[in-house]
Amino acid sequence: MKELKIPPIKDGTVIDHITAGNAVKVLHILGIPKSSSSIVSVAMNVRSRLGKKDIVKVENRELDPHEVNKIALIAPKATINIIRDYEVAEKHNVELPDEIVGIVRCSNPTCVSNSSEPVKSRFIVMSKDPPRIRCYFCEREPEDIAERII
Ligand code: CTP
Ligand code: ZN
Repeated sequence: MKELKIPPIKDGTVIDHITAGNAVKVLHILGIPKSSSSIVSVAMNVRSRLGKKDIVKVENRELDPHEVNKIALIAPKATINIIRDYEVAEKHNVELPDEIVGIVRCSNPTCVSNSSEPVKSRFIVMSKDPPRIRCYFCEREPEDIAERII
């Protein structure tokens, strides 16, 4: 009985080992509650082996890789557990790719990626944990990445 905070789920996705305090940002990335009617449970500041963590459980929904990459920007130690019939069917560590394209908006208003040109935002990943990214076009580093996720 290592965790009684939120009950196990039958089917869906458990995002575990979220950096404590960041569960709400994960919900935002997943479009919850605006564009999803799934049942969601959240635990914040749960004690774990490595200090405190948050957990998000989304029922009847399996996350796609695009969403997973976004989560790596704010919770680099997160694990994505796909649950099928109460069992952990798949476990993935989130991982930031070396480049982030079209996910974060540059904080520089005069950056070409913010102009009327059809240029997708593009960032070079400088550090994965803690996440640090730099604009490919103007070299600006966004301070609060979570705020700038598209
Ligand atoms: N979980 C759940 N419902 C299930 C099965 C698992 O909500 N039917 C949750 C667990 O509570 C845990 C996560 O999914 O938060 C991963 O489960 P498991 O791999 O069994 O836990 P650990 O071995 O502790 O995972 P890790 O080694 O990644 O910390
Ligand atoms: Zn830029």
